[in-house]
Amino acid sequence: MFTRILFSLLISCSFSLFAQQTRTVTELHDGWKFHKGEAEEAQAENFNDTKWEQVTVPHDWAIYGPFDKEIDKQTVAITQNGEKIPTEKTGRTGSLPFTGTGWYRTTFEIPEFEVGKKVILLFEGAMSKPQVYLNGEKVGEWAYGYAYFYFDISEKLRSGENTLAVKLHNEEFSSRWYPGAGLYRNVSLIVKNQESINQWGTFITTPIANEEVAKVNIKTDFSGEHLRLITRIYDKNKKQIAQLESAESFNNQFDQNIKIETPNLWSPETPYLYTAVSQLYSGDILKDEVTTKFGIRSISYSAENGFQLNGKTRKFKGVCLHHDLGPLGTAVNKSALRRQMNILKDLGCDAIRSAHNMPSFEQLELADEMGFLFLAESFDEWKKPKVKNGYNRFFDEYAEQDVVNLVRATRNHPSIVMWSAGNEVPDQYGSEGVKRAKWLQEIFHREDPTRPVTVGMDQVKATMESGFGAILDIPGLNYRVHLYKEAYEKFPQGFILGSETASTVSSRGVYKFPAEKASMKEYPDFQSSSYDLEYCSWSNLPEDDFILQDDKPWVIGEFVWTGFDYLGEPTPYDTSWPSRSSYFGMVDLAGIPKDRYYLYRSRWNTEEETLHILPHWNWEGREGKKTPVFVYTSYDSAELFVNGKSQGIQKKKDSTPQTRYRLMWNDVVYEPGTLKVIALDQAGNPVAQKEVKTAGKPYALKLDADRTTLKADGKDLSFITVSVVDKNGNPCPTATNQLNFKVTGAGSYRAACNGDATSLEIFHKPTMHLFSGKLVVLVQSDEEAGSINLKVSGNGLKNQSIDLQAK
Ligand code: GAL
Repeated sequence: MFTRILFSLLISCSFSLFAQQTRTVTELHDGWKFHKGEAEEAQAENFNDTKWEQVTVPHDWAIYGPFDKEIDKQTVAITQNGEKIPTEKTGRTGSLPFTGTGWYRTTFEIPEFEVGKKVILLFEGAMSKPQVYLNGEKVGEWAYGYAYFYFDISEKLRSGENTLAVKLHNEEFSSRWYPGAGLYRNVSLIVKNQESINQWGTFITTPIANEEVAKVNIKTDFSGEHLRLITRIYDKNKKQIAQLESAESFNNQFDQNIKIETPNLWSPETPYLYTAVSQLYSGDILKDEVTTKFGIRSISYSAENGFQLNGKTRKFKGVCLHHDLGPLGTAVNKSALRRQMNILKDLGCDAIRSAHNMPSFEQLELADEMGFLFLAESFDEWKKPKVKNGYNRFFDEYAEQDVVNLVRATRNHPSIVMWSAGNEVPDQYGSEGVKRAKWLQEIFHREDPTRPVTVGMDQVKATMESGFGAILDIPGLNYRVHLYKEAYEKFPQGFILGSETASTVSSRGVYKFPAEKASMKEYPDFQSSSYDLEYCSWSNLPEDDFILQDDKPWVIGEFVWTGFDYLGEPTPYDTSWPSRSSYFGMVDLAGIPKDRYYLYRSRWNTEEETLHILPHWNWEGREGKKTPVFVYTSYDSAELFVNGKSQGIQKKKDSTPQTRYRLMWNDVVYEPGTLKVIALDQAGNPVAQKEVKTAGKPYALKLDADRTTLKADGKDLSFITVSVVDKNGNPCPTATNQLNFKVTGAGSYRAACNGDATSLEIFHKPTMHLFSGKLVVLVQSDEEAGSINLKVSGNGLKNQSIDLQAK
């Protein structure tokens, strides 16, 4: 088996020129062996794992499928959706094989001189119930699959080769969405001195932060005696701008205040990051060095000014995201997250809620760098169950430690502006729940006095009566637009957060007639209409939230359910098969925007214009029939033409929620040809235009890569959107051709996804059908530089290929 040697470790202290080797951090990425199923004595050192699969971590064992209806078939009433009678549900957790036991094994070598050091084994998440063994002996266990946790393995290590084995187990009925399975986040080894800064021991806050001056407070928890700490602060160009030395500590904590004149304030628009380098000395010997990125910013929440960042009121333009990355499953991948967040940036979105669990470190790093406000959530369940084998089993034993680890591991991220202690917990009912809410909130406050705590509440009436809503720092309402005003009046905080909004459903490129508002609407093809008029029994249309956001100064923003589609929870088709992923996203599972994306973009992206027409204009068989046309635009009015004939001017008007935010021509009669919209300024002059044309037969393929230069690190990804066009280059919006993919050179085919929630084609097989004329192929770099070629072919279509470079 592959053995990793720790001499060649990366030194984390990239800032010092003459770095002494104080602390090394090694990601255990390559060389793991994996086995799905029980394996007796697999924790033993001499266990023979040669026949096990070779994998890299992060790894999600369930994403390779196959999709199977039987996997998550349940006969239940989902009470939080208001259901009373149990019905047979499928696809709720993605119908992927995440349940059961899985084993991972690897080895690493500790050279002689490392013995006597402190060694920490850190897991950034392990799905779930990890049991961790070193050299055949158990070093620890955890429960919650989303928690970050670590063990001090110094005592159990020996010089030379060490064997690490991890057993994981997922129960059925343990999730309401696809949770993934396995070591889906990083595992790392931290080797440091006994005298050192504690794990997550640095806490940086900015109690004063304005354009003139910042007071940067740095608390540093450490182990050892008679030590001194030097903290240096660098700006983003790596120029040192401050330094402070402290010899006095209390209870093994240094508490330093550093002044920074005319700081660059962090915000989504100006995501400026500073770096603090903390060096711990014993006499003249450097014992430890830790580098921490941070931002200088102030946050406040008040009845008077709502949410303020750096003294300016703003409303969250946020989305909720589950943690899966569509075709990659839950195996965390930074380039997939970066692409997701680039798409959200273009949307004008400025905030993310990690529904309903701890975010990955990678996502938080990107939020800091790219500029997103972050609502970091912890739990979907407390003590009362939503699903039989959910977090309720662990709450008593683990909740405090899980919150402590969440806060300590992530509290230096300027992006995090609020914690969430829970989502729609059934404990909203009854006095026990109020106590639990208070207890959890106080743990957050103890660990981090600088950020407020919310809970996403759906039982709003109950929380008004019990006092549950009143004790929270931030009352978060999930849906229930009709109760916002009452909640605002009854709750003492003086403001309301839309912690979860809309839950409108749609399938990319699919339109149903007549275009009309409907709740829990189902169609024989198990798709939902992209006229964006369909929602769930508990939810609403985007405009119902827009009105509250725009008209009520006491509403501090919204987090839309959801930014991207996710695996599992295929409402309204959770009783229909096949259907295995959500319809809620503004963007589909492949990362291709649906029409709804442009509705939000038209109000959120204030930098660039939005002018988007729907539906497509390929309606063979609908000739002469009414085919409504909607335009989502940042302009106030526009004129629509069908084959040059004016359909009249529409102007946004207050008569209905939809007419206030959409331009709608409901009586357009379909004839093939060209649909054209001309946007008008206040004076009625044309300012922009867009066209959609009826396409002919699929003829050629078109490939668009989000990035053509990749890092040769074995992890980087290019996302290539494949579409089919007719002879004249018009996109064919209904094409469903089966395509094949071949990657050659310094990379490999990773996965494909078409955004069709009913597709049972598995992502990692190099073939897939187009859905509404499109799909996305993911190509991954190798660890060696070189060129990579992706070739896409399909029957009767001209092949197409694209070259990428890995450097
Ligand atoms: C909410 C819940 C989410 C998701 C959503 C679907 O009630 O918090 O997790 O289930 O409904 O609309």
